[in-house]
Amino acid sequence: MRSLIDILDLSAEEIDELIQTADDIIAHPDKYSEACKGKKIATLFFEPSTRTRLSFEAAMLELGGSVIGFSGAQNSSAAKGESVADTAKVISCYADIIAMRHPKEGAPYVASINASIPVINAGDGGHNHPTQTLADLFTIYREKGSLSNLTVGICGDLKFGRTVHSLINALARYEGIRFVLISPEELALPEYVKSDVLEERNIPYTETTDLEGVMGDLDILYMTRVQKERFFNEEDYLRLKDSYILEPKKLKNAKPDMIIMHPLPRVNEISVAVDDDPRACYFKQVLNGKYIRMALIMKLLKEASK
Ligand code: NCD
Repeated sequence: MRSLIDILDLSAEEIDELIQTADDIIAHPDKYSEACKGKKIATLFFEPSTRTRLSFEAAMLELGGSVIGFSGAQNSSAAKGESVADTAKVISCYADIIAMRHPKEGAPYVASINASIPVINAGDGGHNHPTQTLADLFTIYREKGSLSNLTVGICGDLKFGRTVHSLINALARYEGIRFVLISPEELALPEYVKSDVLEERNIPYTETTDLEGVMGDLDILYMTRVQKERFFNEEDYLRLKDSYILEPKKLKNAKPDMIIMHPLPRVNEISVAVDDDPRACYFKQVLNGKYIRMALIMKLLKEASK
């Protein structure tokens, strides 16, 4: 059964096909309005979410399908001690596809080997978030016209930010990508991502704490939230949470066609005054995320029915 647990479960060609489909959905939404008629998605969210859960649900509804699920572990049998494996077996009796978010790294994988329907990882702990990456890649493609030859600045919590880990894994497969990793030293990209992805593939990267110093080099600035829920103590969070606050004056050396991205939710790291800048793309990312999830749901359901 084909699931999506890690962004590398999809080949670069498959990602390209998903992007083409999502583009076509935007151009011809009526063509897809009954594509998943009679099918159900179960959204199993053991951790807070606004965008990801609702975008999966909106995606399925726009494909003519329907939605079941829960939001918050306290509202599910997990609160009684049910295992993820059992939950996956049970939901397989009710739905055709699962989108699961869980605070434990690997939980959606465990679900996928126990379910008899496809499982989509909608974020597992500080590990991965492949469908946010699909939204990010689709946005980059639409805004920059290509996924190659880009200097990509990623700023904020590179240690716990699962969207960062999935995005680096995905972009590392394209030509001419260079990363500029901007974070406080304590929130630097984990060694395993540096060695297994960047060094393994000889991808050029630099690490810095100085956002304004590198601003002029960037084609993309991907801002992230400091991941409060992954900290062991509040003092560290409070000390680090406002390490970077993007304000209009900090953009003065930025390229006129640099794009500003953020997976959202934002806390303080982008001032609302930046929202009116034509380079701000974070709300477009939200909309793009719905279309690419529509493409993904269709693909996985089609493969499951073979
Ligand atoms: C991200 C996540 O859940 O990892 N949110 C999202 O799905 N768009 C980013 C975050 O929470 O900081």
